[in-house]
Amino acid sequence: MTNFCATADVWLSECLDFPCFVVSEAGKEDLNQVLFGNNRLFVSCKLHENDFQSIDAIESMGFVEINQQITFSWKPDKLTPVKPVNDLEFRYSSSKELRSSLVGFADLFVTDRFRTDSRLPSDWSVRVKTNWILSPDENRQILLAQIGKDIAGFIVLRKYVSRTIIDLIVVDPSYRGQKIGRQLLLHLQKSIKKNQVIIVGTQHDNHVARKLYASAGFRNVDTKKVYHFYRERVL
Ligand SMILES: CC(C)(COP(=O)(O)OP(=O)(O)OC[C@H]1O[C@@H](n2cnc3c(N)ncnc32)[C@H](O)[C@@H]1OP(=O)(O)O)[C@@H](O)C(=O)NCCC(=O)NCCS
Repeated sequence: MTNFCATADVWLSECLDFPCFVVSEAGKEDLNQVLFGNNRLFVSCKLHENDFQSIDAIESMGFVEINQQITFSWKPDKLTPVKPVNDLEFRYSSSKELRSSLVGFADLFVTDRFRTDSRLPSDWSVRVKTNWILSPDENRQILLAQIGKDIAGFIVLRKYVSRTIIDLIVVDPSYRGQKIGRQLLLHLQKSIKKNQVIIVGTQHDNHVARKLYASAGFRNVDTKKVYHFYRERVL
């Protein structure tokens, strides 16, 4: 793919308050046209690491490689047991009031691509994660793991007919390393029907998340290099 097309990233544009695009084969706009001008602009692109022709082309347009995204998938299979955590309870929440108390978790994603791209404003990562947590999207749900009144961790997920997408999983730093993350995944895995699949993406540099998914039986199904194009408004 060297004749790149782009499509508006409506969700991210609303979240960041300026035009954002994503390079996509199904896109209706010519990427050269999108990049033309001096307006504030953010475009992201994901490419297979052996797609050398596209990589050369996108880099020559000013895109910078940020990291690699690994996609994991899990299909219903024999579940790997994990030692239960005392007093841990699970529940789904859609309460807006509760969601606002989860927003404090939004700055815990240290390997997030918006954070590792040092050219970007430092609040982007938190804005994106906050919007995921607060999002009014009717498909988006939150699976909470609670110990007493404490929220030990949670998963933000989207459920569709044949797949469930994990947007994020996070555990409070004071509860990490106690298999809360594994228990959250196990709880979700138990709810998945035979013909469904769970999909989750993470950065290559997020070694703990990769270990978490692998130990829960997820398989690495795709790896892509992530590129960003970012331009502040040129006066
Ligand atoms: C990723 C995260 C959710 C893991 O939660 P957790 O409850 O601490 O993880 P668990 O205790 O269930 O451990 C799961 C696996 O990761 C391993 N692990 C946990 N912490 C680790 C660490 N600091 N270093 C290396 N391995 C670690 C465990 O050994 C376990 O593997 P095993 O079953 O093979 O022994 C947590 O670290 C976190 O919130 N990170 C910040 C947010 C984030 O990056 N989320 C993922 C992307 S959306």
